[in-house]
Amino acid sequence: MEILIRKVKLEDLDAVTQVEAVCFPKAEAAPRESFLQRISTFPDSFFVAEKEGEIIGFINGCVTDSRVIFDEMFEDASYHKEDGIYQSIFGLDVIPEYQHQGLASRLMEHLIADAQEKGREGLILTCKDRLIGFYERFGYKNLGLSQSVHGGAVWYDMILEFPREK
Ligand SMILES: CC(C)(COP(=O)(O)OP(=O)(O)OC[C@H]1O[C@@H](n2cnc3c(N)ncnc32)[C@H](O)[C@@H]1OP(=O)(O)O)[C@@H](O)C(=O)NCCC(=O)NCCS
Repeated sequence: MEILIRKVKLEDLDAVTQVEAVCFPKAEAAPRESFLQRISTFPDSFFVAEKEGEIIGFINGCVTDSRVIFDEMFEDASYHKEDGIYQSIFGLDVIPEYQHQGLASRLMEHLIADAQEKGREGLILTCKDRLIGFYERFGYKNLGLSQSVHGGAVWYDMILEFPREK
């Protein structure tokens, strides 16, 4: 399947909002205004998967010095710090028709490689317990229960730290 992974553009705003609405329950799905803010603030760490002109998935997150994600970060893009240490992941979405084909893994590998190229020290994310094993496959470690109460769900903090060069 010919799928292009590329940096987000402002024209993708409606499409990514729609993908999010398909992938997450209403209480957890980020609204259009949040995506507008994210695309405007950190387009360099927002990648979409495109197939024949259709957006079928994406990965995005701000850059920060914090080792964990806290809820205020989701709503306020000013927490983004261009030269921060960690690439965060606010969302990893693949629409149901294209799930189970390795696409989320491709998006994740893309962001990990990008963060490494940019000299970050690692990546952070929050996830539900059922996905801890999925993220461990990329080298993420579970830091335990997150303080996040996003969407009324229970979340775990995960971190992937790049080996330090001696
Ligand atoms: C989670 C999600 C991004 C995965 O997308 P995907 O493209 O299907 O993922 P991939 O095909 O790259 O990887 C899936 C594989 O990872 C592995 N995997 C999944 N969960 C796993 C777990 N808990 N432990 C170990 N391995 C796991 C399996 O091998 C799985 O293969 P399968 O789908 O054939 O069973 C997608 O289901 C989605 O968008 N869900 C809704 C939104 C969401 O929950 N996003 C993540 C939280 S931010």
